[in-house]
Amino acid sequence: MLNDVEIVVKLRVEARERAGEPIREAYSGVEQVSPQTSMLLEALPARSAVKYYSAESIQPAFLDQLRGELKKIDEALWPHEANAQALRYFIAASRVDGLESGIYELTPNGSKLIAIFAPGEGLGSMVLQPEFADAAAILLTVGSLRSALESRGAHGHRILLSRAGAACEYAWLTAIAAGYSASIFAGFLPSALRFKLGLDGFEASQLLALAVGHALNEGA
Ligand SMILES: Cc1cc2nc3c(=O)[nH]c(=O)nc-3n(C[C@H](O)[C@H](O)[C@H](O)COP(=O)(O)O)c2cc1C
Repeated sequence: MLNDVEIVVKLRVEARERAGEPIREAYSGVEQVSPQTSMLLEALPARSAVKYYSAESIQPAFLDQLRGELKKIDEALWPHEANAQALRYFIAASRVDGLESGIYELTPNGSKLIAIFAPGEGLGSMVLQPEFADAAAILLTVGSLRSALESRGAHGHRILLSRAGAACEYAWLTAIAAGYSASIFAGFLPSALRFKLGLDGFEASQLLALAVGHALNEGA
């Protein structure tokens, strides 16, 4: 299994080296990376985000993997923040095998149904860019802006966004490993967030999202 913490640390070390900055001691033990991580680091420059999706569905195992790992990664990278205010993860599932299409919250115990899509209702009215409405599933990361600001002011907001970035990056790598395509994007429109998920944008604020599916031209 890919060690995401190792990857993030390694990329930070490289970025600091390039910038001529001293490498903090905490990072310095990660000079040797596992073979799997090396392969991934080699593959990263050649990968690209995919924004147009076919009608093919994805497997629920993808959600199971996210459920198990997203919290662990957040706790490993930001232990203080993750304990003080956990991120929440929602999946808007249009075409996940065996799952009624709708919006679910990923919890440690399973996928909690929040809203079922009405017949014929898709993700079209929920996103700004129509191409993302064709994704088989969309992961939404949500955190408390109120809590972040109260604890560390503007820097708390930056940390919150970094945490969401790491979650989406992990989900993206997981999608690629499962043979899917994906793209990080802004996520749901504010009206859809409020109406479908009851998110007020402050106590519960959408941070970043990932669209996942099969690329439109796959196998063409
Ligand atoms: C934080 C963040 C937010 C993004 N939001 C959007 C977005 O809302 N819409 C979009 O088309 N691309 C968005 N992108 C860009 C795509 O995810 C993708 O990175 C970009 O199209 C470049 O493709 P590449 O990653 O293959 O180089 C975002 C990227 C990041 C890092």
